[in-house]
Amino acid sequence: MVDVQAGARAPRVAVVPGDGIGQEVIAEGVRLIQALAPDVELEWFDLGAERYLRDKVTLPDDVFARWRDEFDAVFLGALGDPRVPSNVHAKDILLGSRFRLDLFINQRPIQLLDPRRCPLKGKGPDDVNMMVFRENTEDLYTGVGGTFKEGTADEVAQELCIATRKGVERIVRAAFAWARAHGKTRVCMSDKSNAMRFTGGLWQRVFKAVAAEYPEIQASHLYVDVLAMEMVRAPERFEVIVTSNLFGDIITDLGAILQGGIGLACSGNIHPGRVSLFEPVHGSAPDIAGKGIANPMATFLTAGQLLSHLGRPALEAQIQAAVRGALLADEVTPELGGTLSTRAVADAVLGRL
Ligand code: NAD
Ligand code: IPM
Ligand code: MN
Repeated sequence: MVDVQAGARAPRVAVVPGDGIGQEVIAEGVRLIQALAPDVELEWFDLGAERYLRDKVTLPDDVFARWRDEFDAVFLGALGDPRVPSNVHAKDILLGSRFRLDLFINQRPIQLLDPRRCPLKGKGPDDVNMMVFRENTEDLYTGVGGTFKEGTADEVAQELCIATRKGVERIVRAAFAWARAHGKTRVCMSDKSNAMRFTGGLWQRVFKAVAAEYPEIQASHLYVDVLAMEMVRAPERFEVIVTSNLFGDIITDLGAILQGGIGLACSGNIHPGRVSLFEPVHGSAPDIAGKGIANPMATFLTAGQLLSHLGRPALEAQIQAAVRGALLADEVTPELGGTLSTRAVADAVLGRL
């Protein structure tokens, strides 16, 4: 990737709408990027279930190499289709990108924009405002494992949980560095070290060591079961959360509902300074795909993260403000109690920019 921030050339973004509502929300996300950053060069990649069913292609090596060498960001909708029950294409494209591009930070903000949308009694935007740093290249996601005597009564299945010092240290460091850079004073690490002695022990040791380098930041720890409870009971306790891949996946869907719904949750799969992949937290939502009612706001906020990665954080703030405005005006899709279509919500947000 060329250093776009140095202005060497126009930024390049690979667009992968993917499956189901991914197609619908990315179409709107692209309109947003074109409106706010017309100099960004976009190139579409036909990858997803359709393509896989057609010619068995998931993520071709030459496409991967182009993303790595020629692009600054990938803008992805969602992957998952009932016609591909193995989900092999999603594994290759989404998890494959995370692993092969070494996108070790999965950064997922949990931020309540409209106070009326929080399901918790008496909690407002000041209470629900945290950043989750989800480790994105290890843990139970690597696919290391296997089966033995498959299909018999003696069947064995194994999935290996992997944690490396390098992997844990870099995500913990990213969380503390972000906290310091953003004037936050609390970082909470969450694991399950009471049951998972070995990987949990490594997380504990690394967290303590890195925390010592940030004396002005209060470092705390919660087991992930208690974290789930506390995020609901007292979300105001949290400013920055750092956790492993699977736990981060689960708590960010919980976080999504705290901020008003899965249609509002954005994420960046980031390797600082390198090509990174941005996608809404939600999936392809086969239950509503093709109906034109998917909420595009998560994708808009995701586009904000992407533009920030391209060196334009002011645009991210503008997008957030416009999404907040549409929420407050009840210009929303059916899952938030509104009557508007994907397109109409997108127009409502774009009209504010
Ligand atoms: P999902 O997020 O697709 O849907 C869960 C529920 O939330 C559904 O009721 C859906 O209608 C609703 N929903 C999701 N996004 C919405 C939006 N933008 N607007 C309105 N409602 C929305 O989760 P799932 O049903 O578990 O997964 C469906 C498929 O997507 C699966 O194949 C799964 O593996 C895949 N998936 C992919 C990604 C990704 O590509 N990043 C993420 C999660 C799930
Ligand atoms: C997410 C998704 C993915 C994950 C799935 C589709 C593999 O749930 O991005 O949150 O678990 O990381
Ligand atoms: Mn998830």
